[in-house]
Amino acid sequence: VRRIGVFTSGGDAPGMNAAIRSVARTALHMGIECIGIRRGYHGLINCDVLPLDFESVSGISRQGGTMLYSARSKEFMVPEGREKAVGTCKLLGIDGLVGIGGDGTFRGLLELSKLGVSVVGIPGTIDNDIACSSYTIGFDTACNTALDSIDKLRDTMQSHERCSVVEVMGRHAGHLALYVGVACGATAVVVPEQDIDYEHDLMEPIRRARLSGRTHFMVIVAEGVEGGAYGVAEKIREATALDTRVTILGHVQRGGRPSSRDRVTATYMGYEAVKLLAAGESNRVICLQDDQYVDFDIADALSMKKSLDQQTYSVMRALTGMEQVRLKDQ
Ligand code: F6P
Repeated sequence: VRRIGVFTSGGDAPGMNAAIRSVARTALHMGIECIGIRRGYHGLINCDVLPLDFESVSGISRQGGTMLYSARSKEFMVPEGREKAVGTCKLLGIDGLVGIGGDGTFRGLLELSKLGVSVVGIPGTIDNDIACSSYTIGFDTACNTALDSIDKLRDTMQSHERCSVVEVMGRHAGHLALYVGVACGATAVVVPEQDIDYEHDLMEPIRRARLSGRTHFMVIVAEGVEGGAYGVAEKIREATALDTRVTILGHVQRGGRPSSRDRVTATYMGYEAVKLLAAGESNRVICLQDDQYVDFDIADALSMKKSLDQQTYSVMRALTGMEQVRLKDQ
């Protein structure tokens, strides 16, 4: 392997820069040239590249976002686009590619590997929804960013004795919402993976909390829940008549200085990805399992479904009051 490419694709995540730095420096350490490909698959199709040397990735680990930009490419979805992407690899003599992103990124890598390009994926998404890996780069920072805003919201909700309904990112997954809900001591958490009985699981905990003296409430809703935060807020207003306010945290959760966990995880994953390519491996995803960095076949990884961590869900239900034993009819 003489020259590899690295790119970021899909939604960005804090820590992606640390992964880019690690890929570039590990490659150089092994005597392999590293080319940065800008704007994900779009850049690969259009030969939008910049060579990365030791200095050009210096100091990027502490920055949020991705120095290589990110994009979602429609052209790559059709065979002609993919052929062009392979053409760029041939033109530049790229022997292997590292793609950093979520499952959309990995589906693209799988297609490229079918066309003869050696590929390795690194899970980078604040959603933490890659089934083969217990952790994805960006999740920790996004949790902390959300928490920071929620703590501020609490202050004003407390002053005004209101109910706050906060929507946390996660189009298809509630991992972020669940984790944030546990960390902020929410009144209730609503995620797309788990149906709830609104009356029993949401209104009753609010009523019980009110009866024991609490006058403000914090409900965390994952973006993927039907109706979103506005739908849940409406239900609460109708059932309880509480003064309810919605906050959509949105893209703020994708920015900011990466936490140490994200920087270190990204650094390890970048290192492992280059080692695999250098060893002639292809079609692999780097994963974290039981504190060990392992790798998985991309097709196998994509066929797996990540369910919500049931232990965390049970802990959340117990501590929020959602799981109160139903009182016997008296
Ligand atoms: O997958 C990461 C994510 O931030 C999701 O949580 C969110 O639903 C989506 O990306 C938003 O995508 P975009 O930035 O394209 O609007």
